[in-house]
Amino acid sequence: MRRRDATDVASTPDVPCTGPSVCGMARASRPPSISLGARCAPTLDEQDERMSMDGSPWLSIPLADYEGHMDAIGQSGALRRLFAEVYAAVKPERLAVLGCTTGADFGDVDPAVTQLALGVDINARYIAAAERRAIKLGLNAQFICDDALCVDLSHAPFDLVHAALLIEYLDPAALFRQVRRWLCGGGVFSVVSQEPSVGVDAVSATKFDSLQLLAGHMTLRPAVEIERIGIQEGFALKSRRSLEVSRGKMFMHSRFEVAGAAPPDLLQTTQ
Ligand SMILES: C[S@@+](CC[C@H](N)C(=O)[O-])C[C@H]1O[C@@H](n2cnc3c(N)ncnc32)[C@H](O)[C@@H]1O
Repeated sequence: MRRRDATDVASTPDVPCTGPSVCGMARASRPPSISLGARCAPTLDEQDERMSMDGSPWLSIPLADYEGHMDAIGQSGALRRLFAEVYAAVKPERLAVLGCTTGADFGDVDPAVTQLALGVDINARYIAAAERRAIKLGLNAQFICDDALCVDLSHAPFDLVHAALLIEYLDPAALFRQVRRWLCGGGVFSVVSQEPSVGVDAVSATKFDSLQLLAGHMTLRPAVEIERIGIQEGFALKSRRSLEVSRGKMFMHSRFEVAGAAPPDLLQTTQ
């Protein structure tokens, strides 16, 4: 069986490069994280087997559907704006974006500021698209196909770890524990979450029906609940900002540092 590399991704089904989202359980049987641009280790048979083991709906959402859906609901601009703000505030020498999808945030990365830019996503096809985008932009970014809760980031420490609309699909406490290991002193964990709201669909309806797969798999938590979990896991909340996006949705942007790293800023809530 031929091994698959990044150039094969566009012609194969969406596949995880690694095992189930519940880490620890199957860690011993999982291959190492796969850095695209290098070889993608699992065979197609192994990938098929893992796809059936992994319950992530993201592996069943074609890239074109995701991009079409985001264009239709007009939320990409809000996500880019929130990333650009935290990037400009932190000016990270070392940056990690978790759940990076096709790497749209990397367009804001300034190579004069950031020496290491790294993206992680569970979907190999998204990661391959992110890599193509970075090459086009002439960016020296690295991409890893893996589960954010399992990935072993030997590139740490980071000045900024950004995760936008990812926490809805993960165990938040496990994510905070993972990120805590990766941040440098004074480093920032930037979390964008979708605020639950009565009468507002968790997943907006568009003609891209595959996105509705997410509805049964996502957990919307109020930002205050996410912040409470972060504080329990040893973080201090530095700021919170809300941004109203289309169709009545509200994104919350909470910035954390490891507790005790620096005196807290005033909490700010901006529309
Ligand atoms: C709503 S999209 C994120 C949007 C993106 N951060 C942005 O700003 O445009 C969620 C992304 O998280 C990825 N994802 C979901 N579960 C994951 C996990 N356990 N580990 C890594 N990536 C995951 C999905 O494949 C998808 O690309």
